[in-house]
Amino acid sequence: MSKAIQAIRGMNDLLPETLALWQRIEQTAEAVLSTYGYREIRFPIIEKTELYKRSIGEVTDIVEKEMYTFEDRNGDSLTLRPEGTAGCVRAGIENGLLHNQVQRLWYAGPMFRHERPQKGRYRQFHQIGVEAFGIGTPDIDAELIFLTARLWRLLNIHGLELQINSLGTPAARVHYRQVLVDYLRGHYETLDEDSRRRLETNPLRVLDSKNPAMQALIASAPNLHEHLDEESRRHFEQLCAYLQAANIPYRVNPRLVRGLDYYTRTVFEWVTTHLGAQGTVCAGGRYDGLVEQLGGQPTPAAGFALGLERLAELAALQQVAGADRSPQVYVAPLGGGQIAQRGLTLAEQLRDAGLRVELHCGGGSLKSQLKRADRSGARYALLLGEAELAAAQVSVKNLRVDEPQQQVGLAEVPALLRARLAGGAAQ
Ligand code: HAM
Repeated sequence: MSKAIQAIRGMNDLLPETLALWQRIEQTAEAVLSTYGYREIRFPIIEKTELYKRSIGEVTDIVEKEMYTFEDRNGDSLTLRPEGTAGCVRAGIENGLLHNQVQRLWYAGPMFRHERPQKGRYRQFHQIGVEAFGIGTPDIDAELIFLTARLWRLLNIHGLELQINSLGTPAARVHYRQVLVDYLRGHYETLDEDSRRRLETNPLRVLDSKNPAMQALIASAPNLHEHLDEESRRHFEQLCAYLQAANIPYRVNPRLVRGLDYYTRTVFEWVTTHLGAQGTVCAGGRYDGLVEQLGGQPTPAAGFALGLERLAELAALQQVAGADRSPQVYVAPLGGGQIAQRGLTLAEQLRDAGLRVELHCGGGSLKSQLKRADRSGARYALLLGEAELAAAQVSVKNLRVDEPQQQVGLAEVPALLRARLAGGAAQ
């Protein structure tokens, strides 16, 4: 036997057991998004490398070392999308969706980053992303946060802390950057190798360092908040007021800088301590300059993306139930020929009545069929043997409650089961 080929490290197969919970999350998210007026958009998984360089920023971890970039057969440099905002903005501009209008859009799908895999951090992972274009006021920042809070509530997920911060305007950031660089230069010996490199290229990211030896230095670094421009300060205060009025608890985290360069003003993350090191389940913020930077008209924008692997893991820890897709009825034809044919027809009729039905195919004894019926998760097995065929009946066996088997005329079965299955779990 030849050696089996294995999946790429950090890229996971998602099996049916796991997907029940994912589907529950996706369906709930879709329903919540539509109640806020967001519409789905789909764009390619591969884009020109230039798009990500120009939007995420040349000097970010993602662009410097995490992108799956390759030359295609024409010699063009292409990249598997490491995130969705850039592609969404590109598609919005290219299709004329963003000019002088408000657009609320969402997307879902795989993203690719060549990070070091660990629990909660994968090389292929999945996001649901949400982007709102054309609104510069903090009401939309608040709405995006309300939307996520509603999603956690509907999914019955708790233990997520909302952290918010403001990065100010690009001009205010340039000013703060200088203040920060002066401070960090003054403590050059304490900086680790990574931070020394970032000091030259992207000093704000030094604040994001997870190195324990750097934490004291970071804690007493100059505070971005003290260097915010007046307009950004007002924007942030208004957002805080909206959150308070809606009773959404939050923590202002002045060290929250995010790993992508396009953010302006508001940034936020929903963080949990239940998942270990990779505790950010959902993250985003405002990016007022990106549309113009990518060739569109100046258009304010804000959005976020949630990581499905992390959210599903948290949901599983908190025993959130997955979407129920198991069959309700198991049809067991106890013979071939006419009996098998009746089984096929009966299963179709039950599906016409809106039931989820698994048909036993391939024959087998009563015992083995009942074993499979039990394992399928169905509540009822319908047994079809010679005697039933002759009497145009079927034996209805409750697989979950001990009660006598019941003979029911074939024509009555769909309505009877529908009524019973609608009538609570115990029946
Ligand atoms: P991000 O913070 O890079 O932001 O990713 C958002 C979320 O995706 C993270 O909070 C996390 O849950 C998940 N995630 C990121 N990387 C991984 C990974 N390697 N493995 C598993 N999950 C991961 C963005 O991508 C922005 N585009 C969000 C945004 C939208 N900002 C504005 N609009």
